[in-house]
Amino acid sequence: MPVVEQPLNLPVSASAANGNSAGTGFAARILVIDDEAGIRESLEVLLSLEGYAVRVAADGEEGLRILDLESLDLVLLDLALPGQSGLELLPQIKERQPDLPVIMITAYGTVDNIVESVRAGAENFIQKPWDNEKLLADIRSAVARHRAEEENLQLKRALKERYSFANIVGKSESMLKVFDLVAQVAPSRSTVLIQGESGTGKELIAKAIHANSPRRDKPFVPINTGAMPSELLESTLFGHVKGAFTSAIAAKKGLFEVANGGTIFLDEIATMGTDTQAKILRVLQDRRFMHLGGIQEIQVDVRIIAATNIDLRTEVREGRFREDLFYRLNVITVDLPPLRARREDIPLLTQHFLDFYAKENDLSPRKLSADALRALVDYEWPGNVRELENAIERGVVLSSGPVIGSDLLPGHITGRSFQDALLQHNPNASLFDILEDIERRIIVEKLERCNGNQTEAAEQFRIPLSTLNQKIKRLTIEIRKKGRE
Ligand SMILES: Nc1ncnc2c1ncn2[C@@H]1O[C@H](COP(=O)(O)OP(=O)(O)OP(=O)(O)O)[C@@H](O)[C@H]1O
Ligand SMILES: [Mg+2]
Repeated sequence: MPVVEQPLNLPVSASAANGNSAGTGFAARILVIDDEAGIRESLEVLLSLEGYAVRVAADGEEGLRILDLESLDLVLLDLALPGQSGLELLPQIKERQPDLPVIMITAYGTVDNIVESVRAGAENFIQKPWDNEKLLADIRSAVARHRAEEENLQLKRALKERYSFANIVGKSESMLKVFDLVAQVAPSRSTVLIQGESGTGKELIAKAIHANSPRRDKPFVPINTGAMPSELLESTLFGHVKGAFTSAIAAKKGLFEVANGGTIFLDEIATMGTDTQAKILRVLQDRRFMHLGGIQEIQVDVRIIAATNIDLRTEVREGRFREDLFYRLNVITVDLPPLRARREDIPLLTQHFLDFYAKENDLSPRKLSADALRALVDYEWPGNVRELENAIERGVVLSSGPVIGSDLLPGHITGRSFQDALLQHNPNASLFDILEDIERRIIVEKLERCNGNQTEAAEQFRIPLSTLNQKIKRLTIEIRKKGRE
């Protein structure tokens, strides 16, 4: 659907690694705890020049006071302090802020000290006199890691509160897990495989991963690999030289080159021909390929995201999909559950689409009547979120007032509920008759799904075939015939 991409600020760049404020909005703060004034001063100068905000303390007590008052990114802690030693102080710092990195500094570092401080949670150990470049490098990486962890925590908190992430709406446990996973994998270049039924939001997720990656300013190139004959697909993906085939009157770039620096989204990957699979495997392995008819290898930097609505493991087992390609694609898998498995998302998605389509059609805000919403929550949604979106768009467009009643939803969605139908069928039926009615309907439905095969139906119901036969007889022959049709 035509939603506006709205990347969140994920910790995607190396900017967090710099002491200066670039990219993070504020300078990283470092607390130096050392009893020697000369050391404090030289560290203060060195670190300030690098753009860090520096706090100094001459002993543990003062250090802890600063720690309690200010938000810090790192502590440089002298091991040999008067009064409380650095080793004694370290657990107190860790108790207050377990994630705050602490680098120990000492002239008298023995192996025991190192082991003990690392055990107590020190990030690293630096010996006096230190090498400035090495010290700065250690500080940069510790600060970067700390900030990335903090940002990630904040992001996860924000996602959970807002139930929405880059226009992906959801509050179910399974969708919150998807949000977490997307936030985690977006910054890397890892290949991602997105699996889910049609209309569950696979392309939306692929776009969110791209939009929250460092590649966001480079192209996102979607291609439906299932919809094309293999020769056309290959020339589209890899490009061709002039004269590569009869209609190749001019050379043409492939989508892998177009996507260079960005992301390529290989949609419906399961139905791709085996020759093409081999070529894709090659690109996945070393990011190289050749134009059709060409002799030169081309190197690209492309992130690959693939999607499928068919279970790839089954395709592999049945020999239709290369196992090696499957394992290459399956580095990180995002499983999108069908909508009927996360009904708590339905009201939220409904609101999202109501707002969107009211705005798009210049209408005042719309809401659903209670029975219309109930019908949406009860429906099975074989077409998943896309089907829900279409139903809401239709309702909004057809509505003449602020409330959309169930009469404006497609009939197959509002179809009376099973319970309704049973009670309506014969208002004076006994409970026994109603239960028999349910049993009859369920058996008819199952036989229909099994194409009338009673053995299969009995197996799926986990009852002996003879029991099923008895039930079919008791519940009238007509049903049996219907089931066999
Ligand atoms: N969680 C969601 N929040 C908001 N919109 C969603 C969500 N999931 C899907 N949509 C919307 O539903 C529609 C279908 O999503 P999308 O095209 O990503 O599904 P798909 O899994 O790729 O489907 P198909 O297998 O049919 O290609 C899109 O308009 C998308 O924006
Ligand atoms: Mg799709």
